[in-house]
Amino acid sequence: MTSATEPTRLGEEDLLVVRGLHRTFARPSGFLSPPLETVALKGVSFGLRRGEILGVVGESGCGKSTLARIIVGLETADAGSVHLGGSALIDVEKRQSVPASRRGIQMVFQDPYASLNPRMRVQDIVGEGLAIAGKLSKAERQERVSAMLATVGLSPQDGERYPHQFSGGQRQRIGIARSLVMQPRLLVADEAVSALDVSVQMQVLNLMLDIRERLGISMMFITHNIGVVEYLCDRVIVLSQGGIVESGETRSVIADPQHPYTQRLIAAVPQL
Ligand SMILES: Nc1ncnc2c1ncn2[C@@H]1O[C@H](COP(=O)(O)OP(=O)(O)OP(=O)(O)O)[C@@H](O)[C@H]1O
Ligand SMILES: [Mg+2]
Repeated sequence: MTSATEPTRLGEEDLLVVRGLHRTFARPSGFLSPPLETVALKGVSFGLRRGEILGVVGESGCGKSTLARIIVGLETADAGSVHLGGSALIDVEKRQSVPASRRGIQMVFQDPYASLNPRMRVQDIVGEGLAIAGKLSKAERQERVSAMLATVGLSPQDGERYPHQFSGGQRQRIGIARSLVMQPRLLVADEAVSALDVSVQMQVLNLMLDIRERLGISMMFITHNIGVVEYLCDRVIVLSQGGIVESGETRSVIADPQHPYTQRLIAAVPQL
């Protein structure tokens, strides 16, 4: 069901529950300019179900990355709460915040070039989080890393190589492996395919679908491309100027968009 006015339903079966998130950024005043306030999020609430891929779509500057960064723990909120599997990760009113490393959430970033350390071998990049966590022996770590490289379609020999020896799509596979090896409950991808050629985008989207199928992982997939949402996501929330203007099953939102902003977003993509 699609609804532009009612808040997104928050249910028992939700893995992630976000309630009333607010975030304002203050910019210091310049020589002649008064201080500026940007309201990046103004009361965002939604649920993400177990095993689903939820799309977050909206134009540049609408607050998508801010939302992702707060959920993952790279940014703070001014108000609101985030629960994962029933426990609070963030509750601003109760002054609670679980550190990013203990949230069970991993992020995949847009830029596969900038986010991989060029001086590290792929196997060390993928295994770094496990090494820091310090729970597994070296042999166990190596085993998990090779298994994960295989899962994302890379060979064990690829582990010996360096990031510059790979294409953009392969680097994004490395980034995905680095996130998945931590066995997160939720994967948050922020414009994870936007920097890639269209044919390579399709390969990475298919990998995401395959991973969900095999690992049963839940995902929040941020994009400004509603075509990507249509291909990948079970449900979608549409953000505009820091607020959710529409949400629902992807199919019904695309077939019958209720909010003028969503209608414009869909009309702008002729190939849908
Ligand atoms: N650290 C920051 N300091 C000041 N303003 C910020 C900061 N981070 C985000 N903003 C502002 O908050 C608003 C939302 O930014 P955000 O990056 O979340 O948008 P977005 O939807 O991810 O955009 P894009 O599609 O371009 O990535 C923008 O107006 C942005 O300029
Ligand atoms: Mg962004």
